Amino acid sequence: MLAIRPYHQRDAARAGMVIADTYAAFNLNQMAVEQRELMLGPFLHARSAEELHQRAIAAAIRAPTVLVAEEAGNIVGVLRGGRMDELRRTVLQSLFVSGSHHRRGIGRALVKEFEGEYVARGVTVFKLLATMHAVPFYLAHGYRKSTGVRNIRSFDGVGLPSQPMKKVIK
Ligand SMILES: CC(C)(COP(=O)(O)OP(=O)(O)OC[C@H]1O[C@@H](n2cnc3c(N)ncnc32)[C@H](O)[C@@H]1OP(=O)(O)O)[C@@H](O)C(=O)NCCC(=O)NCCS
Repeated sequence: MLAIRPYHQRDAARAGMVIADTYAAFNLNQMAVEQRELMLGPFLHARSAEELHQRAIAAAIRAPTVLVAEEAGNIVGVLRGGRMDELRRTVLQSLFVSGSHHRRGIGRALVKEFEGEYVARGVTVFKLLATMHAVPFYLAHGYRKSTGVRNIRSFDGVGLPSQPMKKVIK
């Protein structure tokens, strides 16, 4: 059974692997190896047992709200969000669902839980930078393109195409 629950520090290694694998396979797959490694940042070392690597991963996951999707004891999805931008809009910072679990409603369940938490606190505008892969997903969830595509930085890498999107709750 699928459960959406808050992330705990002890989830860091497993959540880091979901992020590393999904990001590399679906978002960075067209890039040269060198560029992909720069863009993965600390997640390049998701399978390293070194404490320094694991600490950097835990730090990169940190966000005001982090949710995980868990199924049969495995973490299969991670959502980070809740930072406010300069216009005081709430940011959905990142979302990853393991490739083997796509199109089973897990991304939808994570976004619904996240939005519900912030709408209950009075938030009416959400924004995000969607990967090109995720644009249809966010369009299906009420997000709209707010500008053209931009090339953004990801850790030490530059040039990741990204679509700014926002959703206004009515
Ligand atoms: C984007 C992502 C999080 C979606 O997660 P998911 O669990 O597969 O999505 P869901 O099953 O909840 O999809 C809900 C609806 O969104 C739409 N949707 C999802 N993925 C889609 C795709 N690849 N193409 C078109 N529509 C899509 C569909 O309407 C879908 O409903 P349906 O399956 O009944 O048709 C997942 O594909 C992912 O992790 N991608 C790689 C990482 C990424 O790009 N993250 C976004 C960073 S901003």
